[in-house]
Formats: sequence, structure tokens, C-alpha cells
Amino acid sequence: MEQSAAMFVIFLVFCSAISLASGEVNNTYFITAPGVFRPGQPFKLRVALSDAVTGSVNVACGIMGTKQKIMIASQSGTFSKGPTKEITLQIPHGVASTSVQYQLSVNGTGGAKFSEMKYIRFEEKGFTIYIQTDKAIYKPGQNVLMRIFGVNPDLKVYTGNLTVDILDPSGNKMAHWVNLNSQSGVIKREFLLSTQPVEGNWKISVTAAEDQKAEQVIEVKPYVLPKFEVKVNLPAYALEGQKQLLGAVDVKYTYGKGANGRANIQLYFKHLWLGQETLIRQRHSCC
Ligand SMILES: *[C@@H]1O[C@H](CO)[C@@H](O)[C@H](O)[C@H]1NC(C)=O
Ligand SMILES: *[C@@H]1O[C@H](CO)[C@@H](O)[C@H](O)[C@H]1NC(C)=O
Ligand SMILES: *[C@@H]1O[C@H](CO)[C@@H](O)[C@H](O)[C@H]1NC(C)=O
Repeated sequence: MEQSAAMFVIFLVFCSAISLASGEVNNTYFITAPGVFRPGQPFKLRVALSDAVTGSVNVACGIMGTKQKIMIASQSGTFSKGPTKEITLQIPHGVASTSVQYQLSVNGTGGAKFSEMKYIRFEEKGFTIYIQTDKAIYKPGQNVLMRIFGVNPDLKVYTGNLTVDILDPSGNKMAHWVNLNSQSGVIKREFLLSTQPVEGNWKISVTAAEDQKAEQVIEVKPYVLPKFEVKVNLPAYALEGQKQLLGAVDVKYTYGKGANGRANIQLYFKHLWLGQETLIRQRHSCC
């Protein structure tokens, strides 16, 4: 090694436990970093310097696209030997894309000199947005109750602004709320469906912090009368000369409740050998 100080070994340990070590026993610096960075999230590097380091070391780190070399986040700090300390890069929203390849660059100057690069991956999802509704299917004129909140990977609730849109099946914006926020992070909203809404899949669309999005589909179906069943109970036969034929018409909804309606009852005499039917009596009845 050409450098005057002891051998430098960088250890960039990634989430997936990739480690990079060059050199032998006496590491002078030891840096760990996650292999993934997310919008709006802090990206933390841990820096430890061995006792072999004399004087302070200035560590500069940054994330940049491998092609454009434009730094999307950078930070620097001064370190000296002793316990591990952190250096945090704050990743802005809306500056990175999953279609671009990124590198983490870490340079040390002063008591230890090094320059390291490592590929890291951008993950679009900075936090998870939850959209809860009181039902999955709504009828015309009903109120859609919503609860919306975002949770960061560290399980802290997002308390920033949210934009909420309600879209009908054709994609028309039926409601648009901007800059919704609350101290608890939970946003509650209501949306009253008209009495004749467009039938189909409606969408609740939420945007937070520029690039975090979530959608929830709700179904809007018109009111349909419950199905009912009609049973006619009659004796199996009637005797010649019988004055009365007693029977019953039983109408029930499929869920068991009796239904109201008007029955048109016709009694026929069927000539078996001619296949003809003779109307004997007709009667209307109402219950
Ligand atoms: C590692 O450190 C020990 C003592 O701290 C020293 O004796 C040894 O020469 C060092 N090895 C290298 C490769 O620098
Ligand atoms: C580290 O040094 C290299 C080479 O000089 C440079 O291209 C890179 O931008 C530096 N990285 C940081 C984070 O300053
Ligand atoms: C968040 O919403 C408030 C209004 O509730 C507004 O004053 C503020 O500028 C918004 N912040 C951002 C970052 O848009």
C-alpha cells in the first residue's frame, strides 16, 4: 500500500449482508450502510475508527446516479477513534427513480484517507399508506367513512400532509381534499354518495409527500330487492263433488321474512287424455 498510515479496510455491510473487505487484520475504519434507500427517509451510516487512527477523520458521503453523477443527498462529519457514530443522509422526496442505478460514495480525509463506492438500490415505497373504509360495498345515498394514515418503515406514523381524491368508475374526480393532516396522523373523512351514483368500482386515491401513493377500491351497487320464493301448498288430489279445495300460498324472502304481495290464483281441470286445461275458478288474494 502506498498510503503512509496503516492499512485501510472499508466494510460496507449491506442489508443483504454483503461485505467488502480488502486487506488484513488491522481495520482502521469500519463503515456499515443499508443497501436500500427510500424517499423521505433517513439513510444512516455507522462509522467506527480503530485505535490505529490518529487525529480526526472527515467522512463525506453521498448518493448519486451512476451515470449522471449528481448527488441527490450528501452529508459529512468529523470522526475520531472511539465508539461508533452515525452519519445521516436525509433522502428528499421526488429526486430518485427505480429505473436509475445509484451508488453510495464515501470519502475519508484527514487521519484516514479512503474513497469507496458501492451500488445501492432505490425503493419507491418510503412508507405504507393505509386506507380503511367502513364497508367494501356501498349503496346509493350511503356515506363512505374513511380512515387514512401512513406508517414509516420504523413504524412511526406519518404526520405530514395528504391529498385524497375520490374517483368514480370513469375516473372523474368526485372529491378532492388537499393538505389533510392531523397530529395523530390519522385522517378521517366522509363522502356521501348521491342517490344515483355511477355503478361500479370507485377509487379512493391518496398521495403523500409527492411520491407516495395508495389506492383503495370500493364498489357501488344499486339497491336490489332481496329474492323471494313462492310455494303453493295444495292437497295431492280432490274428490269429485268436493265443494272446497283448501290450499295456501306461502311467500318468503330468502332470508326468512314473509313478503307482502298480491296473488292471482287460477284453478284448472286437466284432461289427461286431451292435454287440455279448463279454467275452473280464478281468484285474487292479497296478504
Ligand atoms: C496490526 O496491529 C498490531 C498491533 O496493534 C501490529 O503489531 C501489527 O503490525 C499490525 N498489522 C498490520 C498489518 O498493520
Ligand atoms: C469522493 O471522491 C470522488 C473522487 O474524488 C468523487 O468523485 C466523489 O464525488 C466524492 N464523494 C463524495 C461523497 O464527496
Ligand atoms: C401542509 O398543509 C398546511 C395546511 O394544513 C399548509 O399550510 C402547509 O404549507 C402544507 N405543507 C406542505 C409541505 O405542503
